[in-house]
Amino acid sequence: MLTIHGHTDEIPNVRTILFKEKLLSKPGQFVMVWVPGVDEFPMSASHTIPRLGVTYRILGPGTTALASRKPGDRIGIRGPYGRGFTLEGERILGVAGGLGIAPLAPFLELAMTKGASAELVLGAKTAKEVLFDGRMTDAGVKVHISTDNGSAGFKGLASELAKEVLSGKKFDCIYACGPEKMLVEVLALAGRHKTPVQASLERYMKCGIGICDSCAIDGRHVCKDGPVFPDSELRTFGELGKTKLDPSGRRVSI
Ligand SMILES: Cc1cc2nc3c(=O)[nH]c(=O)nc-3n(C[C@H](O)[C@H](O)[C@H](O)COP(=O)(O)OP(=O)(O)OC[C@H]3O[C@@H](n4cnc5c(N)ncnc54)[C@H](O)[C@@H]3O)c2cc1C
Ligand code: FES
Repeated sequence: MLTIHGHTDEIPNVRTILFKEKLLSKPGQFVMVWVPGVDEFPMSASHTIPRLGVTYRILGPGTTALASRKPGDRIGIRGPYGRGFTLEGERILGVAGGLGIAPLAPFLELAMTKGASAELVLGAKTAKEVLFDGRMTDAGVKVHISTDNGSAGFKGLASELAKEVLSGKKFDCIYACGPEKMLVEVLALAGRHKTPVQASLERYMKCGIGICDSCAIDGRHVCKDGPVFPDSELRTFGELGKTKLDPSGRRVSI
């Protein structure tokens, strides 16, 4: 059980919660968050140093209950779990769609402290929903913003802006997190530029430790084998961007 240090409102309907106790997590790993009496659900670590934090959209009963808990209240945390991002090379490009920036932000910060040079394509629906742009600029990352309606930066999808950023530049690795259709586009782009990719996937999770099979994708467990997968594995996933298992285990379209 960890104690809530405090909440920060980030963008409309999205908050960060920081915990008092130290819990070391690698960027890209996730924790299972248990709000006693309500639900347990996975969340990426959006803050790893000096304290663990998660940044979440208030959606349903679990995240609404989390948002109502006060500093000093206790929340159950299992983990950190799974495989995070690994720094490959020195010139790196992040591509984040929406809340996909949550696990990428601590990774890019860490990469900068290790001497990497990082650029980031940060996609959101509107200007009001651009998350962590200031945080990334402060870390020394060159940020390129895209919005679906053009209210800030490039008008269009993050993958379309990534195509522009990639033309004429060579990166050692691309790191992506966001909607799965975006990940499919980024994977194709990276293939054309012969650049390795690491991407973080989301699937419905119950146990978080490779037992229940609810997060399966083509025979792999997103909770244990991922959530971050390299392109060599991503390219073998026939289900990527097409289907996923719903909470009852039924395969549904994405
Ligand atoms: C590895 C991983 C990392 C995640 N990181 C973040 C994050 O950093 N920030 C964030 O806002 N969200 C993140 N999510 C999604 C998050 O788990 C859901 O938003 C949350 O569970 C919603 O719960 P709820 O009770 O508020 O809403 P509900 O009404 O119960 O669900 C709303 C939607 O959230 C998703 N969801 C609900 N329960 C789960 C579950 N057990 N596993 C996966 N998805 C679920 C489903 O798509 C569902 O339709 C992550 C999911 C995974 C798998
Ligand atoms: S959540 Fe149970 S196997 Fe992955």
